[in-house]
Amino acid sequence: MKIKIHLVAAVVATLCISTFFTATILVELFGSKESIATVKNLIVTPGLFFLIPALAITGISGFNSAKNRQGRLISNKQKRMPFIAANGLLILLPCAIFLNQWAATGTFNPQFYIVQAFELLAGAINLSLMGLNIRDGLRMTGKLRPSKAQ
Ligand code: HEM
Repeated sequence: MKIKIHLVAAVVATLCISTFFTATILVELFGSKESIATVKNLIVTPGLFFLIPALAITGISGFNSAKNRQGRLISNKQKRMPFIAANGLLILLPCAIFLNQWAATGTFNPQFYIVQAFELLAGAINLSLMGLNIRDGLRMTGKLRPSKAQ
């Protein structure tokens, strides 16, 4: 059960970040200022209300399930999680809030685009780290075979 909760939360968190990331790139490339403001608003509400709890549940359920386990896969997952959480809470969250406020008032100045670039970079880093945690999780549950090098 615990691991089902972990899996669902991990999938929701990863889907949130990948959706925010893709929607941001598409709307910045092809959308109007109004549609950028709409996407920035949707990322904050309801987006962050799904992402933050999903990330927290992923971490808590992961550490709980890991209590009596040892090995390289679990220790790598453990080491990545603080970066994923800090990146989410200290970078993605404030960036999303500022970008939403600026977009709502039509403030598309260089500052907006610097923070936007920074948010995309942080999102890409988190997606990579989460991808590695998914790979290692699936290897641990035997759903993915280890590569030959291991
Ligand atoms: C965002 C971060 C994380 C993601 C995306 C993630 C993803 C996953 C996935 C997809 C699975 C496979 C579940 C299944 O096949 O049913 C899994 C399993 C697991 N994960 Fe995570 N995980 C994350 C963080 C963590 C953390 C921080 C820990 C604790 C150190 C952890 C511990 C575990 C354990 C113990 C399993 C189950 C292994 C087993 O039952 O054999 N995960 N994880």
